[in-house]
Amino acid sequence: MIVTGKGGVGKSTVSLALALAAARQGKRTVLCEVAAQERLSHVFHRAEVGFHEVEMAENLWVISIDPDESMREYVLLQLKVKAMRDLLFRSRIFTYLAAATPGLKELVTIGKIWELALDDRKVKQGRSYDLVIVDAPATGHGVGFLQTPRTFANVARVGPIRQQAEILDRFIHDPKRTGVAVVALPEEMPVNETVKLERDLGSEVGVEVERIYCNGLYPERFDDDEAERLAELAAERGGPGRAACRAAVSESRRARAQREQLARLEELTEAPVTTLPFLFEPELGVEQIAALAAGVDR
Ligand SMILES: Nc1ncnc2c1ncn2[C@@H]1O[C@H](COP(=O)(O)OP(=O)(O)OP(=O)(O)O)[C@@H](O)[C@H]1O
Ligand SMILES: [Mg+2]
Repeated sequence: MIVTGKGGVGKSTVSLALALAAARQGKRTVLCEVAAQERLSHVFHRAEVGFHEVEMAENLWVISIDPDESMREYVLLQLKVKAMRDLLFRSRIFTYLAAATPGLKELVTIGKIWELALDDRKVKQGRSYDLVIVDAPATGHGVGFLQTPRTFANVARVGPIRQQAEILDRFIHDPKRTGVAVVALPEEMPVNETVKLERDLGSEVGVEVERIYCNGLYPERFDDDEAERLAELAAERGGPGRAACRAAVSESRRARAQREQLARLEELTEAPVTTLPFLFEPELGVEQIAALAAGVDR
């Protein structure tokens, strides 16, 4: 399951909530962080989540996919003869090509995701998972990221790279195996961007968005009469609790504006929309995110 969306909308948070929800249901789940965000190690208070699967909770493993490490692993798996591998790793041309080839990092990253999802893992003593959740890069990159295998398959007209890129491309396009979820916020620009992202994923990558998570929804605490009364109190000079009334008015306006944007999101996108509440916490740790997990189940 690939979780994507614009920067800062809550992709990492929602990915973790989904992973916690799946693990709770008894699914052996691995959550992959890509592009070294180091957010998981922060949330779990672990020094580092590296390029290996670490068990964080029952049925939940996490891994941070580093492209250089993925590349190394890929070469190790491809070349069985040690002398050849050593030669390749020492070769400056190889290092140069690996760093300079556009999209190669994304390709080996997707390769690792595919490997994690195999029933019969390529790596020694690899665990098999029921679910692989990918906290994908922010939007623009998200589309490019998912296009990578096809681009490589087209460029490499024959040979193993083509074959392998085709396998990855089929993996991404197989709705029985891969689903894409988009995280959005109930605000005008993020809604517009989500509408565009859903279209681009359809037209440019050829994948359908399975679900949209509208994150950070404020509660609607007051009805119309109450909101009006609060506004009056907030306007009264020196009235009691004026600051609190103003805060309440401001929050209820925000909650309303969000409902309008949520309605736009539902109208303008094809995928079903699940809302997730804004959590009024100074910082979101595993416990708080676990509370969101109940919401992603719906
Ligand atoms: N439902 C929520 N309620 C309150 N705070 C939230 C919620 N979801 C996310 N946040 C907070 O918003 C911030 C951004 O969330 P997160 O890191 O998950 O976004 P992201 O989309 O992964 O960002 P990036 O694009 O930088 O990777 C974090 O500080 C997170 O704790
Ligand atoms: Mg993130």
